[in-house]
Parts: sequence; C-alpha cells; structure tokens
Amino acid sequence: MKEKTLVLLKPDAVQRGIVGDIVSRFEHTGMKIVGLKMVRVTPEFSKKHYATHVNKPFYTGLEKFITEGPIIAMVLEGLHAVETVRKIVGSTEPKSAAPGTIRGDYSHHSYAYTDAHGIAIKNLIHASGTSEEAKTEVALWFTKEELHDYTTVHEKHVF
Ligand code: CDP
Ligand code: MG
Repeated sequence: MKEKTLVLLKPDAVQRGIVGDIVSRFEHTGMKIVGLKMVRVTPEFSKKHYATHVNKPFYTGLEKFITEGPIIAMVLEGLHAVETVRKIVGSTEPKSAAPGTIRGDYSHHSYAYTDAHGIAIKNLIHASGTSEEAKTEVALWFTKEELHDYTTVHEKHVF
C-alpha cells in the first residue's frame, strides 16, 4: 500500500511563484517528499516522459509548454500515494477541476480555449496516473541516489 509517485510542477507553477503553496498542500497530507529537484526538460526527454501522448494532436503544444521553463520534479511517498496525489491535484481540465483541488483552486484553463488556440492546457501539475506508471516515471526521473530514506513525525501516527 505504501508507494512512491512522481509529481512535476510544470513551468506555469514555477513562473507563477506558487511552488511553495503547492508543495505545502502535499506536505500537509503527511505524505513524505523523498526526492526533489529543479530541471529543464528537453524535447527528447519530453517525448520519453509523455511516450503515450507523443502521437496525440495536443502533443506539439504540450512539448512547447513543458520545455518552456524549468520545472520542479519530486517524488512523494505514502499510502496509496498515486491515488491520494491525483485526488489533491484534481481533474485534467482546470475549468472542470473541483474546488479544493490544486488545479481547481489555482487555474481556470479550458479545452475550448486551448483547442481553439492550439496550445496546451495549463494545469500546473503532472502526477502519475497509476501505480505502474508511477514506477516507470520515478525510475525515469530519479536515480537511486536522488531518493532519500528518513522518518517523518507523521509516520508515528500513520504506520
Ligand atoms: O496530466 P493528466 O494525467 O491529468 O492528463 P493527460 O491526459 O495524461 O495529459 C497530459 C497533459 O497533456 C495534461 O496534463 C495537459 O497539460 C496536456 N493536455 C492538453 O494540453 N490538451 C489535451 N486535450 C489533453 C492533455
Ligand atoms: Mg496522465
């Protein structure tokens, strides 16, 4: 049940200066940050990370978006971390994302707007979608040496 998941704070989150707010939301759940770094994604790496989306019509805009500035990459660990993180992040389209979720509270882009303008939906965050995806993505983004093992005070109450 305890698992790791990959979270990326996309260029819009970094440029808007809300990295701290977003990281706080994850920390407040008691999940543990086990890896964290600032990275500039190259087009080649974007194609690896978004391998399942490369042939989709929105990929060109997505690559332009994810490579346009540095991002924050992190690995969170906790019980059902994949599902827990996706719940906090909210649905892909900010317009439809529920209030209380990060996408719902901090963004408002819509597919109607982005499709009409040929740009990616600016939704602040990438989060692994399934446990399988999380394993692949954590291994793609972080080396063993970049992942850390320590005990949080929350663990006393959770585990
Ligand atoms: O990120 P998430 O797993 O919620 O969505 P996805 O379906 O895996 O799509 C990956 C990313 O592509 C989204 O987060 C959007 O930034 C972008 N996207 C887009 O710009 N336009 C679409 N029609 C679908 C996705
Ligand atoms: Mg996805």
